[in-house]
Amino acid sequence: MPKRFFYSCSFLLWVSLAGLFAQNARTSFKPGKLWPDDQGVHINAHGGGMLYYRDTYYWFGEYKSDDSNSALVGVSCYSSTDLYNWKREPIALSVVNDPASDIRRGCIIERPKVVYNKKTGIFVMWFHLELAGRGYDAARVGIAVSDRVTGPYRFIRSYRPNAGRWPDNMPLTERTLAFSSSQEQEWWTPEWMAAVRQGLFVKRDFKDGQMSRDMTIFVDDDGKAYHIFASEENLTLDIAELSDDYQSHTGKYIRVAPAGHNEAPAILKNDSTYFMITSGCTGWEPNAARLFTAKNIWGPWTQLKNPWVGEKAGRSFDTQGTFVFPVAGEKHAFIFMADRWRPEHPSDGRYVWIPIEFKDGVPVLNWKDEWSLDEFDR
Ligand code: GAL
Repeated sequence: MPKRFFYSCSFLLWVSLAGLFAQNARTSFKPGKLWPDDQGVHINAHGGGMLYYRDTYYWFGEYKSDDSNSALVGVSCYSSTDLYNWKREPIALSVVNDPASDIRRGCIIERPKVVYNKKTGIFVMWFHLELAGRGYDAARVGIAVSDRVTGPYRFIRSYRPNAGRWPDNMPLTERTLAFSSSQEQEWWTPEWMAAVRQGLFVKRDFKDGQMSRDMTIFVDDDGKAYHIFASEENLTLDIAELSDDYQSHTGKYIRVAPAGHNEAPAILKNDSTYFMITSGCTGWEPNAARLFTAKNIWGPWTQLKNPWVGEKAGRSFDTQGTFVFPVAGEKHAFIFMADRWRPEHPSDGRYVWIPIEFKDGVPVLNWKDEWSLDEFDR
């Protein structure tokens, strides 16, 4: 074959492949619709979080199977430079077959979040871990590390945080309070609720560490990182400080909305104000989201109204939040990531990303059938 002919053919092939790719490239978000990756397969990164590193977004999430919520694979990772088109990366954290491991196949791994530590150059993954065969009993947090953003991540440990520590905002009078056995035994009575508010479960779990389920990690402008998690039987949220290397807790923490029943925390900071979007506790069933605000991460946190507006706000448009992230290169531009769970077919769960609007400085979520990043320039 003459060389010129060969080069023209290669060029034509390249042009048509590029054309095909360009044609298929996404240029908008379609909340709740199937979202194929670069191989045409619906993205499998539920309860996810986002890390922006060196001009690329990395989306980590639960790799769910078709008929079980247990972790049979591990934590997935996808990368993108435009947020619309995602390349599937290798599994970031794999479950193992070793029956002695905390992350043995069949455990539950939920809501993984990855942060980059500038001081150590290490990527740290935090996630909610339930030990295999124990339902949601263990209520632990797990940590894994990698020196490459896409992994593989090495599991280090799992535990219940802040053993032997009192929350900073728990008054001395409550720390020394004794509860009657009736207050401890009969759940959901007004006495029991009052006892929970006053730290019934903080005390119960003081020695071995506080329960830790739904969670997120938030890195502040000063590089300090925080673990925000549903504790005390999912009744109270804790905000806990992480060590400088982001691989452990320092023991400093506060309780937010004691007995308020919040899950699925997601935090953003707009200028110098913190906002936290959470959900109520109804498992996979949607409920009305909640919104909290504070001027200082250590509180006081004040509750505002449901950030969702519109007809289906009471069910958060059939979603539950998982993370909020700022759009790189934009000001006051945040995307709220939420899941539309499909417990009967977990891998088919859908993603609902919504641009956060600010009304009088307060986040508002408006449903969109389709939108693009241009939304932020309006
Ligand atoms: C939800 C929680 C999910 C998962 C589920 C299990 O409330 O946000 O992450 O734990 O319950 O029922």
